[in-house]
Amino acid sequence: MSEDKSPRHAAERRAAEVSEAQIAVHWPEEDYFPPPAQFIAQANLTDPRIFERFSLEHFPECYKEFADLLDWYKYWETTLDASNPPFWRWFVGGRINACHNCVDRHLARNRNKTAIHFVPEPENETVHHLTYQELFVRVNELAACLRDAFGLNAGDRVTLHMPMVAELPITMLACARLGVIHSQVFSGFSGKACADRIVDSESRLLITMDAYWRGGELLDHKEKEDIAATEAASAGHPVERVLIWQRYPGKYSSGAALARGRDVIVNEVLADFRGKRVEPAPMPAEAPLFLMYTSGTTGRPKGCQHSTGGYLSYVAWTSKYIQDIHPEDVYWCMADIGWITGHSYIVYGPLALAASSVVYEGLPTWPDAGRPWRIAESLGVNIFHTSPTAIRALRRNGPDEPAKYNYHFKHMTTVGEPIEPEVWKWYYSTVGKGEAVIVDTWWQTENGGFLCSTVPGIHAMKPGSAGPGIPGIHPVIYDDDNKEVPMGSGKAGNICIRNPWPGVLQTVWKDPDRYVQQYYARYCKNSDSKDWRDWPYMAGDGAMQAADGYFRILGRIDDVINVAGHRLGTKEIESAALLVPDVAEAAVVPVADQVKGKVPDLYVSLKPGVEASPKIASKVAASVVSQIGAIARPHRVVIVPDMPKTRSGKIMRRVLAAISNKQEPGDVSTLANPEVVEKIKKQAGGQD
Ligand code: PRX
Repeated sequence: MSEDKSPRHAAERRAAEVSEAQIAVHWPEEDYFPPPAQFIAQANLTDPRIFERFSLEHFPECYKEFADLLDWYKYWETTLDASNPPFWRWFVGGRINACHNCVDRHLARNRNKTAIHFVPEPENETVHHLTYQELFVRVNELAACLRDAFGLNAGDRVTLHMPMVAELPITMLACARLGVIHSQVFSGFSGKACADRIVDSESRLLITMDAYWRGGELLDHKEKEDIAATEAASAGHPVERVLIWQRYPGKYSSGAALARGRDVIVNEVLADFRGKRVEPAPMPAEAPLFLMYTSGTTGRPKGCQHSTGGYLSYVAWTSKYIQDIHPEDVYWCMADIGWITGHSYIVYGPLALAASSVVYEGLPTWPDAGRPWRIAESLGVNIFHTSPTAIRALRRNGPDEPAKYNYHFKHMTTVGEPIEPEVWKWYYSTVGKGEAVIVDTWWQTENGGFLCSTVPGIHAMKPGSAGPGIPGIHPVIYDDDNKEVPMGSGKAGNICIRNPWPGVLQTVWKDPDRYVQQYYARYCKNSDSKDWRDWPYMAGDGAMQAADGYFRILGRIDDVINVAGHRLGTKEIESAALLVPDVAEAAVVPVADQVKGKVPDLYVSLKPGVEASPKIASKVAASVVSQIGAIARPHRVVIVPDMPKTRSGKIMRRVLAAISNKQEPGDVSTLANPEVVEKIKKQAGGQD
């Protein structure tokens, strides 16, 4: 932070105080909780000397240990080629297949073990326990179908827009078997959002499902695909085919008609591929495994490109040592596979270790807040992984439910947003029954896997703090003047990682400049340097490091709102509002919410001569939902006479954020139109 004490800067600082980071976390330092002795007695990692083995002195060769968890067709020659920063190349020369590592190699010892427990939302539907053998058969048949019926080749892209069903990991693994790059779009996203990702990735196929259960309703999903396919075509990139899985094989559960020549029912074509086998493609370690789109500072979502060898080794190692997955464990990560957490910690990490991984279709609170605990009891789940938003919802809707069920967790994870100590303690004592260790894992879509977390068998837990960097990850906090903020100083800054690691994104799909700009330009010490030490990775989060080395994450520093643990770009939401012809300007700000952490408040001003009306407000909300999805639905749409602006015409979102969060906006006298602030306060300050 600047040390300038002038009144003008003081005023700016006060306005800046109402930043996302400041709204996010106010709680004081908490006491430690030791990991339960029972947990330590069985943990995969208890020796603190791991941190010496993974010190920067041993970088990058220490990461050999990660890659050695996998089967390689050809062992790599160079652990890290860092000769062209920041384009890191891991395990160069190696050949590997992700599907082989997650399926085939387990057959010898675990053929009849459950790979995936698929739990449908309706409680009267049978749970499907898919063995590794069955997974092998289904993945092979689909891979054969994708190759022979649709002509897919290694390197082609395919967009998936699938719900939480066993067919989703099957489809991802079939793509991986062929070296085809999958790009799964969260099923809650709209057809338009899906189309944007089809176009950007130049996907040849769109694979989806006709319908799925959510909150007691069988949602028609196929109708979204008509929008996705039509929009993609009109944007100049039509998909060749839309492949539709049936939620109930043999029955079509959508009201939308099938488009002739475009739409194909997967379950029907698969009949021609029964018993077919496909050899996994020995891909270069650096071949992209998948794209995962995420929001950034500009309107367009970025396609984070993840590698095969580096990514898979990273998620396998972190699943083994941070998730502490053992062969006999039943592991449930309640995230959606449409987000990175699901890719890394439902599909690739656990399956690489031959674990049993639960895929639950529906809402955690459906039909009541006891559902997760019934599932845990009936499947014998002993490792549980979820987000603070889900924990808050379960606590609010069923604070006493966990005690009613006979399940026992040894390990629990929280991910995606800061967790309030009070919520953490409920998770610990009520959900975990005081028996489970908790890891608060901080990371991002771009990172492939965990960055900061306690090592569960080594460190004490501290509610509200993620913990130190995991072995091999060396975080540092920089201030606005590029100086390191020392630990224990009580000051916040930008958290960065000093070193590359195998799970980090390779680039932004088709946009290497954006990759450099977004993650490396800000704190690069010398842009001509070929030394990786000059290229710290900037995460875009504010953070503080306590004297014990634990990091506390304060929230985003860029134009991103974290709603229920999911990143939404403010520009994406604002552009959707501007599609309504009456709207002149739009500004979105995060508002603290008891359950979701943050929700978006959307301020709009109208074109001259247009009267404000509830109808316009609902048109604006509807536009956001149709462009992005229900997850981005504004908490409120506030129609204001004008936006608070700086003299240079910049909208002061921080002033709006303060009003939405019922805080003082500070000194606004430097604004071009300070008088508007009072008006907006009257309009929006009091209401919820
Ligand atoms: O602000 C941080 C927050 O979520 C952002 C990353 O979001 P996404 O790419 O969607 O990935 C979410 C799951 C990995 C981060 O920049 N975040 C993530 N985990 C935590 C967190 N904030 C606080 N504590 C965490 N454990």
